[in-house]
Amino acid sequence: MATRVEARTSMNPLDYDYSSFFYSSSDDPFSILEPYNEWFNQAVPEGYYLFAQAMSTPPSGTVDLTEGLHHNHVKLVNLSSYNYLGLSYRREVIEAGKAALDKYGLGAAGSPILSGTMDVHMELEAALARFKKKEAVMVFPTGYSTNVGMISALMRPGDWIIADQNAHASIVDGAILSKANVRFFRHNNPADLEKKLKQTTGKKLVAIEGVYSMDGDECPLPELVAVAKKYGARILLDEAHSAFVYGANGRGVAEKFGLEDEVDVHIGTFSKALGGQGGYVAGSQNLYNYLKGFARSRVFSCALSPVVAAGVLKALELAIAEPELRDKLWSNVAYMRGRLEEEGVDVGDATSQIFPIMVRNDRRIFELGHKLLKAGLYLQPIIYPAVAKHRSRFRVSVSSSHTIEQLDEGVSILARVLRDEGILV
Ligand SMILES: Cc1ncc(COP(=O)(O)O)c(C=O)c1O
Repeated sequence: MATRVEARTSMNPLDYDYSSFFYSSSDDPFSILEPYNEWFNQAVPEGYYLFAQAMSTPPSGTVDLTEGLHHNHVKLVNLSSYNYLGLSYRREVIEAGKAALDKYGLGAAGSPILSGTMDVHMELEAALARFKKKEAVMVFPTGYSTNVGMISALMRPGDWIIADQNAHASIVDGAILSKANVRFFRHNNPADLEKKLKQTTGKKLVAIEGVYSMDGDECPLPELVAVAKKYGARILLDEAHSAFVYGANGRGVAEKFGLEDEVDVHIGTFSKALGGQGGYVAGSQNLYNYLKGFARSRVFSCALSPVVAAGVLKALELAIAEPELRDKLWSNVAYMRGRLEEEGVDVGDATSQIFPIMVRNDRRIFELGHKLLKAGLYLQPIIYPAVAKHRSRFRVSVSSSHTIEQLDEGVSILARVLRDEGILV
């Protein structure tokens, strides 16, 4: 249960986290702002807030942070960005975006259902449908709004959504918005999914992810699909971190397991491997037609910028035409795994391009984050509410665009700081 906090002249930033600032005691909705800012204004200069540091370079193997907390940081080794195939700043993608800017201007200036749909959006949807081998693909402004819109469009009060306990906030928020009953099954645990499904009647949607963003582990898709089918549940698979990365053709974990036809709703984002922005739902034409009217996060929001749509379309073409990008990514992942193992860093159950470096101390992680920055490594602390309390960690993301030297330097800095701080013995 979250505590109520009052404004105070001084508070130890380490005694508080986000859960401390949900409630306040007065009737004024703004009364929470003062205590929160009291904390924030102390946490920032004392180094307990290392978020949203502005970058002045593309998210490549090294980055410059414009205004680091106490320093200007340049040429930091970057192990924080998604950009798994290095496509966000590929020359061809930039050129496609520039050409679209010349042709359409900056924005779509309308909801996709009104005046915001442009030919480039239709081309992108058609290209994705061909790639995913599905009847239809619908593009959304973000990956977040994809899950929110998709889930709330289809599920109703009285229905059941059974989600993995580590499901992304966008799945959780879509479920909350739908007002359906929500239950969580133990992470990647088909037996617990079965237990939960047994206890439900009526319409059921099982929501899972191909690769989990905070632990970098894959879902046991065959077992989960078998259980869901047994109980007549529909399956939503979010491949935000596995689309364009997993599978012989990059069609994700569903392709890897040969289960593309068993999954009812395929979700993905353009913000990870494609280095852009936006999300998609791939499925049947009937689903597409229904979502067009009922996915409120899309209906009541401006369409994706045509500049981004054109860039994403080019990034998709490159991801398809250059399977060597995936090969390079996987060889970098193998290299990173080997180097982390050599240094004795535990990476849990990670099997993907994401490696969690567990710190499990919600306070010390900021001190470590600082030290890493000073030593030349940009690695973002991840704390509650992105992960459970006392499960704080750094998350290493590997890209095909990293050089071996960058990976080496990153791991050496990480291991040195973890060792100096007694986290690694
Ligand atoms: C599993 C999952 N789904 C959806 C999203 C949201 O995607 P986007 O950042 O493109 O809005 C994320 C983002 O990290 C994610 O990890």
